[in-house]
Amino acid sequence: MAFISGELLNEISMANDIVDYASSFMQLKKSGRGYMACCPFHNEKTPSFHIDRDKQLFHCFGCGASGNFVQLVMRLEGLDFHDAIKQMAERAGIVIPENGVREVNEITRKKERIYEMNKIAARFFYDTLMDPEKGRAGREYFAARRLSRKTVIRFGLGYSPDSYDALLAVLKSRGYTDNQIVEAGLAVPGKRGAYDKFRGRVMFPIINARGKIIGFGGRILGSEKLPDGKRLAKYLNSPETPAFDKGSNLFALNLAKHSNEKDIILCEGYMDVITVHQAGISNCVATLGTAITEAQAKLMLRYGREILICYDMDEAGTKAALRAIDIIASAGGKSRVIRITGAKDPDEFITKYGVSGFKKAIDKAMPSTEFRISLIKREFDLNDTEGKVRFVEETAKILAGLSDPVEVEAYIKRTVTDTGISEQSIFGKYKEIKGKEKKPMPARDRETFRRRELNRVNTDKAPEEKVTSTMLEAEKRILSLMSKSRHLCMRAYDIMKPEEFSTAVYIKLAELIHKESQAGGIIEPASIINEFSGNTESENLAGAVFFNREEYSDEEKTLYDLIYTVKLNKLDTKIKAAMDPREIGELLKQKSNLAAERRSWPTNI
Ligand code: CTP
Ligand code: MN
Repeated sequence: MAFISGELLNEISMANDIVDYASSFMQLKKSGRGYMACCPFHNEKTPSFHIDRDKQLFHCFGCGASGNFVQLVMRLEGLDFHDAIKQMAERAGIVIPENGVREVNEITRKKERIYEMNKIAARFFYDTLMDPEKGRAGREYFAARRLSRKTVIRFGLGYSPDSYDALLAVLKSRGYTDNQIVEAGLAVPGKRGAYDKFRGRVMFPIINARGKIIGFGGRILGSEKLPDGKRLAKYLNSPETPAFDKGSNLFALNLAKHSNEKDIILCEGYMDVITVHQAGISNCVATLGTAITEAQAKLMLRYGREILICYDMDEAGTKAALRAIDIIASAGGKSRVIRITGAKDPDEFITKYGVSGFKKAIDKAMPSTEFRISLIKREFDLNDTEGKVRFVEETAKILAGLSDPVEVEAYIKRTVTDTGISEQSIFGKYKEIKGKEKKPMPARDRETFRRRELNRVNTDKAPEEKVTSTMLEAEKRILSLMSKSRHLCMRAYDIMKPEEFSTAVYIKLAELIHKESQAGGIIEPASIINEFSGNTESENLAGAVFFNREEYSDEEKTLYDLIYTVKLNKLDTKIKAAMDPREIGELLKQKSNLAAERRSWPTNI
């Protein structure tokens, strides 16, 4: 165990019951083998937060927050791992030995090392950009995007040379090993050793609120469409590392936090943020290539009164804006939508309409409820009676989700003006829906959570490697079965190796479970999950595995079915993404081989 001996952690955890601890933060109700409460990590009225006393784990079926006892202490009290352990040990009167503490610091050291490597890398990318020869392509790209030298310096932008070992050589000369460089996400492991991850891209360092460089985004210079019809990912981002949690950081927050503006502007793209800052508006941030999370919403709300969503005006952008509105609301915040009509994104808008045009758009930002209503209004013909009825119904649904009665009344009055339908009727509709709408919330949350989980897992994956929700759910169940018994774990291992799982967290889980089983130990979910401490998204993904409540009449058969589903799904995804007929032929052959192979698996199916 990397940070603290599993034994000691178990001892501390066992001495301090998770249920007792949690009960001082929330109203717990007994439910089956565990306890339930309203989730402390998202807003909800019906409890979907579960605590499993036997496993000493928590999991929210609504927002997906999950983890072990220490992780609960960390999140509820905002402590780091070390302090959480210390606090728990104190509660139980356990003295942590010197070496235990030193081990705890391992994760901190790893983070610090990644920060240092990132700093060297950022310097290297910047120097390359400024090099008369080596950086020409990058400088020309930024010039074409109208970025001034001052902006380039302000954001520490750079250029990664089109080489497989330029950065690697620099970092190695500074004493870092291949493994450490890969661990920092700056290189990728290859058959003949590690090679540079970022090549021939303009580089955007991602800096956290404390000023540390936690990762990079790298953009290709031209268009993502290649002449032969293939596509190149427009952006390549650093993977999640101990230092880089994509779901809880924001691009340019290090600058935006110093702005004197009341609100925070949220854009989709790095380029958008940079253009907005260059225009003299510095309260602007972006997410890191993934959909917005509640943690990010909370982070923004720490620095801004309201969040002004400034996404692209196309369908995808509108959908993303609706999602952002929901997430900001569940983080307890308010949002507005800046509409950049006449341009595809904020960057283009500023170029077309200037800073003054953009400032006007900010002033006219639409309250999120009005934005949602305006979208449904477009769908119905208000000159038509049936259209009016449907519009009122949809509006009432939106209003039923609001908590402020004044806001509800104001929008009802507007709907009266829009439709000519009486206030009483609209209010009646609203009350009717509000009455019914007590339960469905968690289900919708869960759906959102699943989508987010899937999005997260798919970031940076090539089309042929994309994970489907079937795969993700099936892999979750396979791991959960593997953790149940040594027998099931070995059966699974025979036909599905850890690296066949489709996300780094699952691969590591499969390895850990297998290692533990092989050594003849019992699988202790709490200590296994501990391996993921420090990265909320990974903790959530790992924790969810142990909260599979399904009971199977034939576990072994289910296991084989699930493994088959995953393998088949993977091949199908590859087939869908393949373009070359020969490759498709090869994949189809693999598919029929898989069916044959399945017949040889131990259980007769
Ligand atoms: N993104 C990503 N991977 C991609 C495409 C996009 O991670 N293949 C993320 C990046 O964080 C990007 C954001 O999604 O900044 C928004 O995408 P887009 O609007 O396409 O990027 P811009 O930064 O606006 O780039 P540009 O204007 O140069 O197209
Ligand atoms: Mn853009």
